[in-house]
Amino acid sequence: MKKIIIAPSILSANFATLEYDVKMIENSEAEWVHIDIMDGHFVPNITIGPLVVKSLRNVTKLLFDVHLMIANPEKYWLEFYKAGADLITFHTEVLTDKKKLIDDIKSSGAKVGVSLKPKTSISDIEYLIPYVDLVLVMTVEPGFGGQSFINDMVYKIKDLRKIIDENNHSCFIEVDGGINSQTASICINAGADVLVSGSYIFSAESPRLALKSLLI
Ligand code: DX5
Ligand code: ZN
Repeated sequence: MKKIIIAPSILSANFATLEYDVKMIENSEAEWVHIDIMDGHFVPNITIGPLVVKSLRNVTKLLFDVHLMIANPEKYWLEFYKAGADLITFHTEVLTDKKKLIDDIKSSGAKVGVSLKPKTSISDIEYLIPYVDLVLVMTVEPGFGGQSFINDMVYKIKDLRKIIDENNHSCFIEVDGGINSQTASICINAGADVLVSGSYIFSAESPRLALKSLLI
C-alpha cells in the first residue's frame, strides 16, 4: 500500500505553546509540519511570518511544509526559505510568471509546490506539473481552519492522480481543508499522497490518536 504523509496544520495549535505541539507531532506518525502563512490580502486572515518559522526551526527537524497564502509570494518566499522552510507552496492565482517563481525556489534547494483554490482548475496549472514537487488541492476556501470539506473537490484529486500517473510525474498530491477520519479515506482513495489536517487533530482530546485515525 502507498505511504500516506500526514502534515498537521499548526494553524489550529496553541500558539502560546507551539513547541509543545510540534513535539507532539514529532512523537506521532506525522513527518511534516504544515505552516499556514496568511497576509490579510490574498486571504481575509493574518497568521505568522518568517520569525516564528525560524524559532520553530530551532526545536525540530521535521519537514516544514510552508503554505503561502499571500499576495506576493515572489517577494517573501526567500525569507521563509532562510527561516527554515523545506517545501514552499504558493498560490498560482496570484502570479503571471509562475514558472519563474518555481525555478527560483528550486534553485535555492527548497522543494516547491503550487496550490489551487477550489475554483481554480487543473487545466490552469497542468503545464507546471513536470516542474513541481507537489500540487496542493484546497478542499476549503483558503483563510481559516475548521471549515467543512468541499466534496466536489474529490474529482480534482482523481483527475490530478490520473494526469500524474499517466505521465509518470513524480509530484505529490496534497489535500488541505476539512480533513478528518472520514474525508481522509475519501482523499486517499481518490489518490492523495499528503493530508493536511488542523482542527480535527488539535481540537481532539488526544491529538495523537486523532492523527493516527487519519491513516486507518
Ligand atoms: C486553510 C489552511 C489549512 C487549515 C486547515 O486556509 O490552508 O491548512 O489549517 O484546517 P482544517 O484542517 O481545520 O480545515
Ligand atoms: Zn494550508
